[in-house]
Amino acid sequence: MFENLREQPADKILALMQMYRDDPRTDKIDLGVGVYKNAEGITPVMRAVKAAEQRIWETQETKAYTGLAGDPAYADAMIGLILGDSVARGNVAAVATPGGTGACRQAFELIRMANPAARVFVSDPTWPNHLSILKYLGIETVPYRYFDSETRGVNFDGMIEDLKTARAGDVVLLHGCCHNPTGANLNSVEWQAVIDLINENGLVAMIDIAYQGFGDGLEEDAKATRLVAASVKECMIAASCSKNFGVYRERTGLLMAISADAGQTGLNQQTLAFLNRQNYSFPPDHGARVVTEILTDDALRADWAAELENVRLSMLGLRQNLADELQRLTGSDRFAFIAQHRGMFSRIGTSPELVERLRTEHGIYMVGDSRMNIAGLNDVTVPILAKAIVDVGV
Ligand code: LMR
Repeated sequence: MFENLREQPADKILALMQMYRDDPRTDKIDLGVGVYKNAEGITPVMRAVKAAEQRIWETQETKAYTGLAGDPAYADAMIGLILGDSVARGNVAAVATPGGTGACRQAFELIRMANPAARVFVSDPTWPNHLSILKYLGIETVPYRYFDSETRGVNFDGMIEDLKTARAGDVVLLHGCCHNPTGANLNSVEWQAVIDLINENGLVAMIDIAYQGFGDGLEEDAKATRLVAASVKECMIAASCSKNFGVYRERTGLLMAISADAGQTGLNQQTLAFLNRQNYSFPPDHGARVVTEILTDDALRADWAAELENVRLSMLGLRQNLADELQRLTGSDRFAFIAQHRGMFSRIGTSPELVERLRTEHGIYMVGDSRMNIAGLNDVTVPILAKAIVDVGV
């Protein structure tokens, strides 16, 4: 049987991670995979996470199964964090999932189950694993224009034009904030226009929100997601705690299915739990329990939010410093977009050849589409990167 196997395409982000590890140069700079690193290059365990883990260690008396949907307290806490009071709890079905990727996977399975004819419209570009999982599940994808390589902002007219070709029942996958891989985001007027189009054409919204708190703040970053959830007939939200709680390896995510008709919620909930059972039975609990402990305790929550805010501000500072340094070196505002982008990533919009030269000549690793992880920089590496960008002629 195994002889029938064929090598699968490598995930370009993970392949880059491995290349970086294998590079013997000591001055190499990793701007590849989306992991936050502090000024010392460490991805720390957040203070509130440590404190919550200690409490759990002291008080947890069983490791017996939770429910198929995970602990309902986790869903409640996460729904509160993401949706605030934009949607009544009775309209939201939710299950814990292994990370944000697990939430996306389950959402795609839900789409395939509910409407096998649905196509999923994805931003061009989007997170490569969206495309990979959709292809694996045999779901047709349709790219919509998103990144404008001239302005490095959103090509909004192109986006709307492409979304207008969607048929009733097709799904529109949107990034709630901090677009990955570009860093370019819709403004509130543009979000409203997308919502209007979704409603006028009978489309289904799906939001992937993996970076809440990394862009303009915890509340601000949830605004668009809340607006969509409150305005459309049906939507799915795939959320990740990997980045904003720094619990990457614990695989902590949540999938919500929201219906404007609360009478639908019971069936939605039962279906999500069924899908969990088919794929992995009970979702992992440790990360979810940590997150619940933090979100439901005022002191832990305040400390977590403060630490997250520091991470956010340090990334904004790095963005500004890099844009300023490039301004100084080039005497032009060509790179001002870096300070305007939000989240962990910026796509600098250059060719794979120059990305390759940054790696071979300067030991700087970024994804081939020229996505760089801003959170992988620090005060020492910002000027080195700026000089290298100018040196290779980006
Ligand atoms: C990324 O885009 O780098 C992260 O979301 C990590 C991953 O799993 O790809």
